[in-house]
Amino acid sequence: MRRLGYFAVSIVLTLALILGVRTFANMVFNAKPPARAAIEVPPMRGAQKEEKKAEAPKKEAAAAGEQKTAEAQPAAAASGPDPKHGKKVFAKCKACHFADKEKHKVGPHLVGVVGRPVASAEGFKYSDAMKAKAAELGAWTEENLMKYLENPKGVVPGTKMSFAGLKKEQDRRDVIAYLKSLAGK
Ligand code: HEC
Repeated sequence: MRRLGYFAVSIVLTLALILGVRTFANMVFNAKPPARAAIEVPPMRGAQKEEKKAEAPKKEAAAAGEQKTAEAQPAAAASGPDPKHGKKVFAKCKACHFADKEKHKVGPHLVGVVGRPVASAEGFKYSDAMKAKAAELGAWTEENLMKYLENPKGVVPGTKMSFAGLKKEQDRRDVIAYLKSLAGK
């Protein structure tokens, strides 16, 4: 008889498990915790956990996605133009250029140079090489500046700008950003 009783309980429990009637299962479980039932109940909890697990990767993926976008911005900012650093880079140009006043030194002033037509600073005696390149280059677009500042003599052979160039792309970007930021003031 007892065996039959356990059997009946386990069948009821199994049904309850299949139907997912948790309260019913809990009631039976709490009222009389037979050994077999105790063994059978955990799979349901396991199944619940698995459901949660199935949800977890989604959440993780969503979190990772958020992280990616969150990371993407500072990363873009880190590799993007940094005018503050550009100001430091400009120390290399200072001996020959003013960037904050329209006064020439060894080189022409660089006020508003980003977008300015090549060899157009009034009163500065440009080299013939620079004047000859002016038509071809047009204006000091950021693209032209990126190339020129990397290798002045390569872009304008015969330029009288005695400067080896900024080899680091980031330095060029930053110094251009700095020159632009001055123009905005
Ligand atoms: C040793 C002096 C010297 C240094 C250092 C120097 N330049 Fe020049 N720069 C010149 C001279 C001289 C010219 C005029 C070139 C010519 O006429 O061939 C010039 C021209 C330029 C021009 C073209 C301007 C125009 O009106 O067409 C730009 C832009 C420029 N320099 C930017 C820079 C930047 C940015 C730096 C620092 C990374 C720098 N230069 C460093 C001397 C210098």
